[in-house]
This record gives sequence, C-alpha cells and structure tokens, in this order.
Amino acid sequence: MATTLFLAIGCLCCALLSNGIGAELEASQSRSFTTSRAQPYRTSYHFQSPRNWLNDPNGLMYYKGVYHLFYQYNPHSALFGDGIVWAHSVSYDLVNWVHLNHALEPSKPFDIISCWSGSATILPGNRPVILYTGIDANYSQVQNLAIPKNESDPFLQEWVKFSLNPIIVPPKGIEPDNFRDPTTAWQGPDGKWRIIVGSWKNDKGMAILYQSDDFFHWSKSEQPLFTSSKTGMWECPDFFPVSTESTNGVDTSILNASTKHVMKASFNSHDYYVLGTYKLELERFLPDDDLAGSSMDLRLDYGKYYASKSFFDSAKNRRLLFGWVNESDSTEDDIAKGWSGLQAFPREIWLDRSGKQLIQRPVEEIKTLRDKNVGVKSLGLDGGSTYEVSDITASQVDVEVAFELPRLEEAEPMDPNWIDPQILCSEKNASVSGKYGPFGLLALATEDLREQTAIFFRVFRGQNRYVVLMCSDQSRSSLRNEVDKTTYGAFLDIDPQVEKISLRTLIDHSIIESFGGAGKVCITSRVYPVLAIDEAARLYTFNYGTLSVRVEQLDAWSMRKARIGHGESLSYGEPSAFRCENISSAGSEEGQSCAV
Ligand SMILES: *[C@@H]1O[C@H](CO)[C@@H](O)[C@H](O)[C@H]1NC(C)=O
Ligand SMILES: *[C@@H]1O[C@H](CO)[C@@H](O)[C@H](O)[C@H]1NC(C)=O
Ligand SMILES: *[C@@H]1O[C@H](CO)[C@@H](O)[C@H](O)[C@H]1NC(C)=O
Ligand SMILES: *[C@@H]1O[C@H](CO)[C@@H](O)[C@H](O)[C@H]1NC(C)=O
Ligand SMILES: *[C@@H]1O[C@H](CO)[C@@H](O)[C@H](O)[C@H]1NC(C)=O
Ligand SMILES: *[C@@H]1O[C@H](CO)[C@@H](O)[C@H](O)[C@H]1NC(C)=O
Repeated sequence: MATTLFLAIGCLCCALLSNGIGAELEASQSRSFTTSRAQPYRTSYHFQSPRNWLNDPNGLMYYKGVYHLFYQYNPHSALFGDGIVWAHSVSYDLVNWVHLNHALEPSKPFDIISCWSGSATILPGNRPVILYTGIDANYSQVQNLAIPKNESDPFLQEWVKFSLNPIIVPPKGIEPDNFRDPTTAWQGPDGKWRIIVGSWKNDKGMAILYQSDDFFHWSKSEQPLFTSSKTGMWECPDFFPVSTESTNGVDTSILNASTKHVMKASFNSHDYYVLGTYKLELERFLPDDDLAGSSMDLRLDYGKYYASKSFFDSAKNRRLLFGWVNESDSTEDDIAKGWSGLQAFPREIWLDRSGKQLIQRPVEEIKTLRDKNVGVKSLGLDGGSTYEVSDITASQVDVEVAFELPRLEEAEPMDPNWIDPQILCSEKNASVSGKYGPFGLLALATEDLREQTAIFFRVFRGQNRYVVLMCSDQSRSSLRNEVDKTTYGAFLDIDPQVEKISLRTLIDHSIIESFGGAGKVCITSRVYPVLAIDEAARLYTFNYGTLSVRVEQLDAWSMRKARIGHGESLSYGEPSAFRCENISSAGSEEGQSCAV
C-alpha cells in the first residue's frame, strides 16, 4: 500500500539531496512596514506575506507540534500572474508565524507555469504528503504529489516532487483548465483513499471523486461525489465530517452514526456549503438541502472570504478553517502598496446544535494578543445615540458586545418580499432609521463620523417569528471613491426572545471580521479609511433606531501586534526551536535569515 510509494520516492530523495532547495528560513521585513503612515493598511495580527500577491491557503496541517500554513504566492508581483509558488509559514500557536523558504516552485514539466492549490494528508505513521495542481506547459491542470525530504524536521522545510507526476490528468470530457484543487484525502473502512477535485461540465459544478490503494495510482469514480447545476466552476472544494454530538472536530476519515458531512465549494467569489450525508456504499454525498444558486444558500462568510480550507487539529481535537480575504482597492493601489491579500484570522468550526448550519469563532489563541480591556455593563442606548468606547487602540481591537431589546413586540413588520439580505442591507443602510435598528458598532470611524464602517442589526416581526438581519455597511468606510464599498448582509437564525443579539468583531487596520449570534453569521470586509487610521481611529456602539436598546455588556481589548515574519518569534517561549543568525546571504533580498 502506502509503503510502495515511499520506497519509490525514497530513491528520488537521494538523487535530489545533492541539489536540494536551500534550507535557510526567509525572514521578513514586515515589522518595519506595519502601521507606518506609508502603509496604513498593513495589518497587525492578520497573516500577511512581507510583500507581493497572496491568495488561497493550502496544505494546512499540524505536524510534530507545529502548525503549517502554505499559501498561493506570486514572488514577482503584487498582482496575480504565472509563476505562482507555495509559500510556507509555520507557527506554534496560530498567532505568531515564521516565513520559511517556498515549499513548491514551478520547476518540472508538470508544474512549469505554476504550482496551484492543494491539500495535505497525514498518512498512517504520521507521514505527511501534499497533493497540488500543477499548471503544465500547455496550461493543463494536472494533479501532483510531493513528500517531505526529511520527515524528522518538524518544520518540513523541503519538499520533493514525485518522479511519476502528474499522478492525475484531466479525464475525458473535462476541459483541462477546469480541473483543480485536490482535497485532503480520507480513508474508507475498505482501506481505500479518496479525494475530490473541483470541476465544471455541462453547466454543472462538481466534485470529481478519485480512489487509490497506494496514494499514487488514482482511478476516477464513475460518478462525481456531488454535482450542482446552480453553480460555477468549483474551486477549492472541501469535504469533511462534523460531530453531531459535540463541538470537537473529527479527523477527515471519520464516518459513523455521530457525524454529518460538509461539502464546501468556492465559486462566484463566495464560499458556499451544504450539510448532508456521505453514503460511502454509493460513493455519493446526499445533501439535506441542495444549493439553490440564490441568497438562501449557506455561506462560510457573507463578506469577502474565498478559497477556504479546513483541517483537523489533533493537538486540540478541533477543526480549523483558513480563508483568503482579497483587496477591495484597485490593482494600481496594490502595485503602489506592493502587496495584496490577507488570510482571515484562523477560525474554529463546528456544527450548530440545530444541525442546520456551521458555527465559527476565532481560535482561542487570539486571546494571547489581548492587552488593555475596556468594559461597559448595562448601558442604555436611546434612539439616535452613539457611545464612544475610548482608551483603546481602535485600529487594532477585539470587541464583544451583546444587545437586549426590551419591547420586541414593537418591532417593525417583516415584508415577505425582503428575500435577499444583502439588498435589504444596502437599501436599509446604516443611515436609514427603523424601529429596532440599525444598532451595533461603528468601526474605524473618525470623531466626526465622516468615515465609519457600521456593523449592525435590525429586528423585524415576521409571521410567527422574529427576523434578525445582520449587515456590514462599507459605504462610508473611506473618503476615497475608487474602492469597492459593497454592503454585505445575512439573516441571523436566532430567536431574540430567548437569546441576546451578540457581536464579536476583529478590527485590524484594513480588515473587519464580524461574528454575529455567537458565530452563526460571519461577515468579513476590507476598508481603506483615509482619516480613521492608526491613533485617529475611533470605535463606537450606536443605535439609530427609534426604540431604545440596552448594551448588556461590551468588552473591547486593545490588541498587541503578532510576531509575523522574523525568526525570533518562534523561539519566544520555545527555547529549543529556532536559532537565528544574521546571514546576509548573497541574493537574499530579505537580509536577515534564520536556521533551525
Ligand atoms: C503539450 O501538448 C503537446 C501536443 O499535444 C504534447 O506533445 C506535449 O506532451 C504536451 N506537454 C505536456 C507537458 O503535457
Ligand atoms: C532531518 O531533520 C532533523 C531534525 O531537524 C535533523 O536533525 C537531521 O539532520 C535532518 N536530516 C537531514 C538528512 O538533513
Ligand atoms: C464516531 O467517531 C468519533 C471519533 O472517533 C467518536 O468520538 C464517536 O464516539 C464515534 N461515534 C459513534 C456513534 O461510533
Ligand atoms: C476580489 O475583490 C474584488 C473587488 O472587491 C471582487 O470583485 C472579486 O470578486 C474578488 N475576488 C475573489 C476571488 O473573491
Ligand atoms: C442609504 O440609503 C438611503 C435610502 O435608500 C439612500 O438615500 C442613501 O444614499 C444611502 N446612503 C449611503 C451612504 O449609501
Ligand atoms: C546584519 O546584516 C546586515 C545586512 O543585511 C548588516 O548591515 C548588519 O550589520 C548585520 N548585523 C549584524 C549584527 O551582523
């Protein structure tokens, strides 16, 4: 079985050892960039590369005490292009990261144009492997295999491409440019490994299923695992089990009476998912509700969030999710900034008790960055009022707030024609007063509120239930006109008669990630204020509805800067980890380097 593979690759390793990839760790200069006036949109605790273009997270795994994030990166430009590599960063805590050398670069006929997205699988015996999409000289999308050069190295700094790549080529009837992004593999009780690859055919998005006994001979299953006619080309599919009994994550191969499955696909600039049943004997995924191609479909995030990928963290028995957040400014702006793209803060993900949707929250490790706390309890907010949360670093803050509505029965009636929450949020933007709502937070605001991003709620009285709308209104986020200020929104499936309306928001210079209803709705936005930057930024809670609301509790924490880039960051609190040297190696544009 898998041993065959490792024997085959073992010999290849010997051959490659002599001309191996350099083992020096790349150090970043991000510290000098961050939050300087010249770079007001660099973040302080969200993952960024030191410069250039970044997109999809890839190959996520926890291995020998270390979290690995690989990501799509263009070393040549702040824009997307040919020559995409797998950049590689490692962390002990998902908060502080060290950039290593690129793990995969275009070099062989099977990936000579680009090394596109893929996933890691940890095989029995704790043996990690990567499957990724190579763009070959004919711009065909082929699936390739790579293994670590040295499994004893917890940082997995060097990767060896399998000599028999490509291991999977576009099947008959599939366009060679619609065939990409292999998932993490799962193993059935029959011992066979399975993966899906994203595709599109006859106006149907699909997850093409492959099976293997040895991880390198793969055969296509007759039927796709799942298809949907209401979607575009499926990018970065993700297929994983969630527990119906607890919030713990489960390994990707688990399938039993206490699991349900999640099928996620990226298309039309959003990450959609459906819950359902994985019928192994039929080799099919049966959704509870199919994708409708409408605003009713569930999304991991209702703002900017794409190409996400989850993995099982065996250290803490949880499933973690990373996602790419792109820019909302112009390509000219990106060239001027010298960079483009962020990773959202890593999230924990599990099934809601209702069994109808997923719940997400930032990983608990984020609390290590919390510094000064400002709290308010039981604060009445009359209609038309704002309250400043002062004495915090409002450009870099983690805030939690819960609202109580004492006279719910007075809420405005819900119009049954209001079907699309995003349209409703733009029509009833933060300036439009209702009865209950808008109320929420004004982030990255100036003192005169000329610039502000409003994250807010409205509550309506429906036929037999209350309807809660959550919005993120970017329309006044910047005095600049030439940025995308689309308003985002979603309906929040909570009952305000029994639950407080809660909001958790991570604000970090140019990104705002909001979690409503304890993680039932996530909305991520990118904003580029001109005045509300650094110390000039303010944070408010507000209520522009006519009815009073009560802030039951509000807590805001000034956030420290995460150590992202320099080698020292990992040795902090981990004495045996990294030895840093100031090697100014010839040709290294980064200057300082570290070695393990
Ligand atoms: C590209 O296409 C040509 C013509 O079909 C073929 O001969 C060649 O082998 C292909 N190259 C790769 C890398 O597959
Ligand atoms: C493999 O990694 C281990 C741990 O970092 C190191 O001690 C060993 O020298 C490495 N082996 C080779 C052949 O580089
Ligand atoms: C399913 O698998 C999980 C993970 O191994 C385990 O915790 C759970 O008890 C199993 N449930 C059943 C019903 O077998
Ligand atoms: C990135 O952002 C732009 C503009 O804000 C948007 O139109 C586009 O669809 C986004 N791309 C992806 C893949 O999310
Ligand atoms: C908010 O909505 C109102 C009514 O639809 C509209 O007149 C106004 O221009 C909008 N404000 C912004 C900033 O988009
Ligand atoms: C570190 O390297 C830089 C060049 O990249 C050099 O200017 C500097 O003097 C070095 N510092 C030390 C302490 O060696």
